[in-house]
Amino acid sequence: MCPAKPVPFDDTITIDTLTRDPYPIYRRLRQEAPVLRVKALNRILLTRATDTRYVKDTPDLFSANDPNTPMLRAFQVHTLMRKDGPDHKRERMAMAPAFAPKVILNDWVPAYRRFAREYIDRLATGEVVNLFPALSAPYAARGLAHLLGLDEASDDEMQRWSQALIDGAGNFGWADGPFAISDRANAEMNSLFDRLAPRHLAEPNNSAYSVMLNADDPIAQSQIRANLKIAIGGGINEPRDALLTILYGLLTNPDQLAHVRANDAWTTAFEEGVRWVAPIQVSARLVREDTEIRGHAVAKGETVMTSQASACRDESIYGDDGENYNVFRDKAPHQAFGNGAHFCLGTHVARKAVAEVMLPMLFDRFPNMSLPDPEAVVWSGFGFRGPLNLPVRLA
Ligand code: HEM
Repeated sequence: MCPAKPVPFDDTITIDTLTRDPYPIYRRLRQEAPVLRVKALNRILLTRATDTRYVKDTPDLFSANDPNTPMLRAFQVHTLMRKDGPDHKRERMAMAPAFAPKVILNDWVPAYRRFAREYIDRLATGEVVNLFPALSAPYAARGLAHLLGLDEASDDEMQRWSQALIDGAGNFGWADGPFAISDRANAEMNSLFDRLAPRHLAEPNNSAYSVMLNADDPIAQSQIRANLKIAIGGGINEPRDALLTILYGLLTNPDQLAHVRANDAWTTAFEEGVRWVAPIQVSARLVREDTEIRGHAVAKGETVMTSQASACRDESIYGDDGENYNVFRDKAPHQAFGNGAHFCLGTHVARKAVAEVMLPMLFDRFPNMSLPDPEAVVWSGFGFRGPLNLPVRLA
C-alpha cells in the first residue's frame, strides 16, 4: 500500500474572495485539489460530495465538537450542534416534538399562512420593493418566533439576536466587538425566556419552548436555552435566503417559472434553490483519530471543513449543469440540509413555510412580478450565503 500523501497547502484563497463568490473556486478545487489545507481558513477544506457526506456520516472519526470555534463564547453555552452521541441525541430529541409532521401540519402551517397573508398584504402593487427587508426576513422571523413559543419577541429583535449569534460564532479573530453584541443579545433573550416560562408551564402547547419545559424528564435549563438560541441563530437566515434565492432563480428563468406555476411544482423550485445556493455553505468537524481522506494523511486534532455548497454542485451528481438554477433537472439528492446525526431539524418546516405557503401565495397575488435589474442583486457569504437584496417590481 502506498503511504498517505500530505494534504496540499494553499495560501492564495482569501475569505474575501470566498465571501464574494466561492463557486468558481469550489469548481476548480473539485477537479484539482478536493482535499486542501487553506491557510485563510486554518482548516482542511473538502469540496467533493462523497467526502462531505462521508465526514458527516462518520461521527466516530469526525466529531461535531470543534473546540476551535468561537461558538461557545458567542452562545455562552455548549449547544447541541457541537455535541456528539447520546448527549447530542438527548438535546435534539427534547425539541423534536415541536417539529413533528403532525404539529407542523396542524399548528405551524396555518400560522405561516396567516403570517404570509399579513406580510404580503403590506406590499404595494406597482412598485419596486426590496423583498429582503419587506418580506423574506420578517416572515422568517415571525414564523420562527411563533414555533419556538417566543411570540412576544418582535421581528426586529429576532433578526438582531440571530445576527448577533451568527456574527459571534463566526468571530474567528476573537475581536471584542462582536462578543459585546452577542452578550447583549444573550441577556435580552435570557430575560425573555424568564418572562415566558411561567405561561408555557401553566398553558402547555406545541411550541419548542413549551415542549422542552413540560417534558417528563426535561433537559437542563441551560440546554433548553441553548436549543432556543441555536434555533434563533440557525432558523431565520436560511429560509429568508432560500426564499430570495428561489425568487431570483424563477424570475430570471421565465420558462421555469411557467412550468412551476402550471404544475404547482413549488417544492421542486425550493429544493433546486437550496441546492443551487446552499443557505448554510460549510460545516466544521474535528478529526478524532489519524486517518486518510482520498489518500491524504489527516491527523487527529485537525479540523476539516465540509463545503455542502460545493457538494451541491458536484459534477459527479449534476454533470456540467450544476452551476445553474434548473428545475427541469432529474431529481438528485443534495446536501443543503446536511446529513448524519446533525441533519437539519427545521427541514420540513422550512419547506412548508417557503414552498407550500409563501411562494404560491406571492405569485398568486403578484402574477406579473418581475426582477427589473438582476445585476443589481448582490450575493454574499461564505458560511451563510444568499442575496443581500432583491428589488422586485410587484404587479
Ligand atoms: C432552507 C432552510 C434551512 C437550511 C438550508 C438549513 C440547513 C441546515 C444545515 C446544513 C444543518 C447542519 C449543520 C451541520 O451539519 O453542522 C442544520 C442544522 C440545524 N437546523 Fe437548519 N436549515 C434550514 C432551516 C432551519 C429552520 C427553519 C430551523 C428551525 C426552525 C432549523 C434548525 C436547525 C437546527 C436546530 C439544527 C441543528 C441540528 C443538530 O445539530 O442536531 N433549520 N440546518
